[in-house]
Amino acid sequence: TGHPPIPPPPPLPLRPPCCRRPPASRPAASSASRPRPLHSPPPDASPRLRSPPPPPRPPRVTSPGPSLPRLTTTSIRRTTTPTCRGSSPRTTWRRVNEILSHYPSNYKQSGIIPMLDLAQQQHGGWVPVAAMDAIAKIVGVAPIRVYEVATFYSMFNRTKVGKYHLLVCGTTPCMIRGSRDIEDALLKHLGVKRNEVTSDGLFSVGEMECMGCCVNAPMIAVADYTKGSDGYTYNYYEDLTPKRVVELVEMLRRGETPPRGTQNPERKNCGPAGGMTTLLGEPKPPPCRDLDAC
Ligand code: FES
Repeated sequence: TGHPPIPPPPPLPLRPPCCRRPPASRPAASSASRPRPLHSPPPDASPRLRSPPPPPRPPRVTSPGPSLPRLTTTSIRRTTTPTCRGSSPRTTWRRVNEILSHYPSNYKQSGIIPMLDLAQQQHGGWVPVAAMDAIAKIVGVAPIRVYEVATFYSMFNRTKVGKYHLLVCGTTPCMIRGSRDIEDALLKHLGVKRNEVTSDGLFSVGEMECMGCCVNAPMIAVADYTKGSDGYTYNYYEDLTPKRVVELVEMLRRGETPPRGTQNPERKNCGPAGGMTTLLGEPKPPPCRDLDAC
C-alpha cells in the first residue's frame, strides 16, 4: 500500500574467501573423488601438523672406510720373512688378489683363513708373525684379529714343525683313556719336548683338541707334510697304546704307511670292541594301535 519496495539481498559466496585456494593447489578431481581410508587425516590438513620429511639416506658404504696402506710387491717382500720360499712376491700378490676377489670389498677380512693357509704353504708348514701382520694390513684389521684366528685353528702352526707333525688329542675322553701316556711315550722315544722338531727334521709333537673319534680314544692325528706343505694330509690313528704309537712312528720313519683308523684288532671301525652287544637281530617294530578300539 504505502510501503517502499524492499531491495533484493546481495548474492552470498558459496565458500568464505579464507577457504578458497588457488586452483594449482587443488587436488586432482580423480583423487578427490576417491574414498578416503578410515582414520586417515583429511587431505587438506594443516601443513604445520605434518611430520617433516625423513632426512636423505647416507650413501651405501662399499669401501672399508679408512684408507689402507697401498701394498705393492715390494711392501709384501718387506713384511714377510726372508724364509718365504716356493713363490715369488709377484706370485704371492697374484694369489692374494685372487683370494680377495671372492669377497665384497668391505668384507676383506673373510680372506684371513685362505691367506693364512697360503702363508703356511709358502713357509713350509708354519705361519710366522710377520706373515700374520702382512695379512692384517692387506685386509685392513688390527693384527690381533689375525692372531686370534691363527691361534684358534690348530691346523695353523705358529712354529716350525717336522715332516710328520704328531698331534695328540688332549680333550677329556682321550685324557681319561690315557692320552698323557701316549704323549709321554712319543716325547721320550723322539727325545724332544712338545712342539720341538727332531734333529733330522722328521717329527714334531703337538696337541690338538677333540677330533671327533672319542669312542676310539685315545687317538692322534698325523699331519703329513712329506709331499709339500700345500698337499699335506691328516691321518688319524685310534685305540692307541704307548707301545703301538712308537711302532707307528718307526713305520713312518721307514717310509711305510701305517693302517689308518682303529689300531685295536678286536674293533671294527667305531663298533664296540669284541663285537656287537645290542641290535643283534632285526629289530621288532612297535605294536600297532587298534584304532577300532579307540
Ligand atoms: S676327546 Fe679325543 S677324539 Fe674326542
